[in-house]
Amino acid sequence: MPQSLPDPVLILDFGSQLTQNIARRIRELEIYSEILPHTVSIGDIRAKKPRALILSGGPSSVFEKGAPAVDPEIFNLGVPVLGICYGMQLMAHVLGGKVVSAEVREYGVTPITIEADASSLWKVFSPASAVLMSHGDTILKLPSGFRKTGHTRSTPIAAMEDVKKRLYGVQFHPEVTQTLQGVPFLKNFLLEIANISPNWTLTGYIDRQIAEISRTVGKDHLICALSGGIDSTVTALLCHLALGDRFQAVFVDNGLMRSGEARQIIVDLTHLKLPLLHVNAEKTFLDRLKGIRDPERKRKVIGKTFIDVFWEEALHLPVRPRYLAQGTLYPDVIESVSHKGPSSVIKSHHNVGGLPKKNPFLLVEPLKDLFKDEVRRLGKELGLPETFIRKQPFPGPGLAIRIIGSVTPERLRIVQEADRIVREELDHSPYAATLWQYFAVLLPIQSVGVMGDQRTYENVIAIRTVSSQDGMTADVGEIPYPALAHLSHRIIAEVRGVNRVVYDISAKPPSTIEWE
Ligand code: XMP
Repeated sequence: MPQSLPDPVLILDFGSQLTQNIARRIRELEIYSEILPHTVSIGDIRAKKPRALILSGGPSSVFEKGAPAVDPEIFNLGVPVLGICYGMQLMAHVLGGKVVSAEVREYGVTPITIEADASSLWKVFSPASAVLMSHGDTILKLPSGFRKTGHTRSTPIAAMEDVKKRLYGVQFHPEVTQTLQGVPFLKNFLLEIANISPNWTLTGYIDRQIAEISRTVGKDHLICALSGGIDSTVTALLCHLALGDRFQAVFVDNGLMRSGEARQIIVDLTHLKLPLLHVNAEKTFLDRLKGIRDPERKRKVIGKTFIDVFWEEALHLPVRPRYLAQGTLYPDVIESVSHKGPSSVIKSHHNVGGLPKKNPFLLVEPLKDLFKDEVRRLGKELGLPETFIRKQPFPGPGLAIRIIGSVTPERLRIVQEADRIVREELDHSPYAATLWQYFAVLLPIQSVGVMGDQRTYENVIAIRTVSSQDGMTADVGEIPYPALAHLSHRIIAEVRGVNRVVYDISAKPPSTIEWE
């Protein structure tokens, strides 16, 4: 962690799905925030010099045995504390109040009434402001020194404060858009109560990172694997700015990219003047994938092949690099420090992160403090074209995980051609802006058709269009039926070997976005 980051607003995580939202909302207010597990020691909290503390929500009940707790000393640090949902209940519980299981659980958007004697923190709420509630427990008795500042129809104590000690609690979730005054409320807390002046800008971040990379790498050389995605490209741009000709980018072309994409990546990156080594490894990848049908095996083989090819190139450069840059983002860091530990493996994701145990390089991770939307903004400041920044996410294992069953050159051609048509039709359509991803999947079955007067027995393509905020959950990104019918018509007419197109109408969860 570079020393030069601003003192943070610290968010202690009690296992809520929404903890990341809190950090993002705060950063959008240009205030630096960090998430730590609730188990962090009071010494470590002090060492961070937090400007305010926020206690997140969580799925537990404070009165359960083994429920996530917190060192009561955090309420004596002299910095303002805001407890959200479980965080509020924990604050009440630790400070001598009483929390019980609610008679009426409250889930959904509800009007809140702010009490007449509440402090100015609550002034952002109008008489019937809507807030998002999601709780089964409730506060029955306030700790001493506190007063109630809001109630809803089902929850008598929906907000509380101890103005003298600057301790505040909300049963609702200010970090979600459904709470219409949520962001103004957080802003009021941070600016008025915690006296923070916003100073978190990405321009400052670029300068700090360039200085930090130069300092870390010194006179050595650094290598970076480029995938053509935004994270690795922004990482490379920062490292290049810091190190000049002691930087080398390597693009391992696995042959599993979308039609024309590898060429476009090279054009874009050359345009950015990045020193680029293009390694065409399609044959190696396809050879090693021969006969493999199991999705996890496929992912593992691709990950391993990537490392082998990359290593081979890296270790034979004229000057052996000592450092390797990776586009690790803040959510990956949070995941690894979360009190729950890394979530169970649903799919083993392939990126440079799959480093072998005997990694000969020292790591540089200049984006590890940032969220994806911050990386996009950084990319823009560094001169990446809008088309590059708005690219659909593309999985590391490429089209191999959209070819269900074995990967052969012929099946790769089919999915590439179908995918090209999907993109041609949707890229410039009015729906593109509402979609997170849209693509074609080749299924491992054949079906009977009739073309001209001939019976055919050919492949089936599935079309997937999803909307999502962050890829963690997704809905079917609906597109009108005539557009779908047109897609189907074009794919069957233009892609040799396909006689049927189906449409995937599954949300995530329970399905995932990719099919493998
Ligand atoms: P799933 O299929 O898990 O995908 O719902 C969620 C998002 O992640 C992308 N994805 C990957 N990205 N390496 C990546 O960098 C991978 O191995 C990988 N697998 C899935 C997927 O495209 C979607 O946006």
